Amino acid sequence: MKPIKVGLLGLGTVGTGVVRIVENHQEDLVSQTGTPIEIAKILVQDPSKQRNVAIHPDKLTDNPREILENEEIDVIVEVMGGIDPAKTYILEALERGKHIVTANKDLMALYGREILAKASEKGCDVFYEASVAGGIPIIRTLIEGFSSDRITKIMGIVNGTTNYILTKMSQEGAAYDDVLKEAQALGYAEADPTSDVEGLDAARKMTILSTLGFRSNVDLADVSVKGISQVSKEDIAYGKQLGYEVKLLGIAERQDDYISIGVQPTMVKKSHPLASVNGVFNAVYVYGEAVGETMFYGPGAGEMPTATSVVSDLVAVVRNLKLNNGGRKSFGTYKEKKLKTDEQ
Ligand code: NDP
Ligand code: HSE
Repeated sequence: MKPIKVGLLGLGTVGTGVVRIVENHQEDLVSQTGTPIEIAKILVQDPSKQRNVAIHPDKLTDNPREILENEEIDVIVEVMGGIDPAKTYILEALERGKHIVTANKDLMALYGREILAKASEKGCDVFYEASVAGGIPIIRTLIEGFSSDRITKIMGIVNGTTNYILTKMSQEGAAYDDVLKEAQALGYAEADPTSDVEGLDAARKMTILSTLGFRSNVDLADVSVKGISQVSKEDIAYGKQLGYEVKLLGIAERQDDYISIGVQPTMVKKSHPLASVNGVFNAVYVYGEAVGETMFYGPGAGEMPTATSVVSDLVAVVRNLKLNNGGRKSFGTYKEKKLKTDEQ
């Protein structure tokens, strides 16, 4: 059986998990698609660096040309992060007819429309399940699970790092700076953790969820953002005395043709299920006119949960390739509408 060849951009926390899952679950993957998946080449900054997973040195390169110009590679998995050069590589790969899987919410929140338009023009897939809520398949759920409904509200905890910090501050009285360092060591935080603690990472995720959930063009600038860097141990202790936990919540609501989207630290009553979402876990409530209230819960960051979503996307690409329908199944390529915000 001829394998589907994958070019992996990045071998950090998520990339390492992708290599492990493709290796360890190969039999299960083949049973679903009938085709082996081979990670043919991996782009890194420093090929000489010690890795946490066994990789033949010939597979590593610091030259993107070896992947982008390789005609045997059908799919690019981008887990290097940041805007550039990730965006440049993805657009070039699409131009060359390669399908894309990415975990990059920075890129999809800011340039998702441009990337999806190029994919549509070239008949390629772009999947980005891992960009929101790590191991929770929330994007697929919003698009497929609620296709019959009209979503009115999406609310939840969508950043693992800040939830980890707030949990440790609340349960152990730990110091903010110490727990942030722990979250970085565990691979939860972004390369620059400012985007986690200042709420920007959650805002990017709410932009993606709102775009897909409300089937509308939502811009990052539509989201009001406040992070947790100003939340003190005293704030948390005071909230606890009154029966509340502090959580960084993202809330997106739609009323008729208007939307409001915000991310901010919020006092959540202890009896509410979101108050019990602890550590790196995320939870997302989705409200639909017909379905009512639903909740999705799971690990929001980290190597293996995130890689689970990435490799599931990879399976979706391989399935599409096998169906030979040339893609056009990317997440979220259906609309051009834009809802109004209060400022408009
Ligand atoms: P890491 O920082 O751990 O890994 C980044 C990898 O990309 C490294 O292997 C690095 O190479 C490589 N890389 C970075 N820049 C370049 C470049 N210019 N050229 C070549 N290689 C490069 O990141 P993560 O794995 O944590 O995150 C990857 C992506 O996944 C990000 O978009 C992140 O937002 C997203 N994500 C992360 C989650 C997590 O829990 N960590 C969860 C969900 C999404 P080298 O190893 O040589 O330094
Ligand atoms: N830094 C992100 C978080 C990674 O902590 O949630 C997962 O998107």
